Amino acid sequence: MDYIDFKEKVVIVTGASSGIGANAAKAFAVYGARLTLVGRDESRLLAVAKHCESWSKTEPLCLLLDLTQPGSCEIVIEKTVETFGKINVLVNCAGKRIKSSMFNTCMKSFDEQMNINVRVPVFLTKLALPHLIKTKGNVVNVVSSFTKRYKEDYVPYTVSKSALKKFTNIAAPELMPHGVRINAVSPGITKESLTNDIVLRSEVTNTFEALESQLPSGAALEMKDVVLMIVMVASDIFPNMNGSNTCIDGATCMM
Ligand SMILES: NC(=O)c1ccc[n+]([C@@H]2O[C@H](COP(=O)([O-])OP(=O)(O)OC[C@H]3O[C@@H](n4cnc5c(N)ncnc54)[C@H](OP(=O)(O)O)[C@@H]3O)[C@@H](O)[C@H]2O)c1
Repeated sequence: MDYIDFKEKVVIVTGASSGIGANAAKAFAVYGARLTLVGRDESRLLAVAKHCESWSKTEPLCLLLDLTQPGSCEIVIEKTVETFGKINVLVNCAGKRIKSSMFNTCMKSFDEQMNINVRVPVFLTKLALPHLIKTKGNVVNVVSSFTKRYKEDYVPYTVSKSALKKFTNIAAPELMPHGVRINAVSPGITKESLTNDIVLRSEVTNTFEALESQLPSGAALEMKDVVLMIVMVASDIFPNMNGSNTCIDGATCMM
């Protein structure tokens, strides 16, 4: 029986300054991972790094980068290898969700979501690949259960996450002969997140309650459920899991 163990493993987490990415980073630290944490907000990223170091006993590499800017993705891979010598896991969690329908979508916000939700994970995967081949590592893409159904007012977001899901499915057979796995985790509405992207922070509480009231269970997912799923998928427990999309959403996608 294999157990989750990330000691001696190097894990990159994007979106590590907030929400699911921040909590996933903390969970990887509990299992001993050496971490590269990527985000834009310095104080939140450093607070996550401090927490991680207290568990893993290794100082994380913190990179303050807007990943959509030219050269940023290259820095993530180069600095990680320079600092830790290898890459075992890439978790693409940085993402943006802008509320808009087909009737009020502006192409600027469509492009922004396609950039951070699709282009950045695809590019980071491509750049990490030579290093992942050496370690027989893997990629976890954080998608969304919204991809399984129509969600009012989230057409561009759902299109971007569906593209990321499809990328995960069809990249897997290409990477498999090289010993590299790529999988997706699709959470539903999760507690302790939704901070930056849906609405202004002052409106978060109302929006969050409205979203929760639409869920079959009436409650959002616990953060620990989502991050444990990410950690499990990234671990060696399921060596044949490849090209998969694990949905954890309390049956919301069935509605
Ligand atoms: N929360 C949910 O209920 C839910 C459900 C399904 C899927 N998801 C997906 O899970 C992921 C995390 O969601 P979340 O709710 O935890 O989000 P969040 O709290 O808003 O965090 C988003 C993270 O992405 C980073 N980020 C955004 N744009 C970036 C950019 N251009 N360059 C670098 N970093 C950037 C943010 O960095 P800064 O804050 O430092 O700017 C932050 O760390 C997203 O991909 C989201 O689509 C979330």
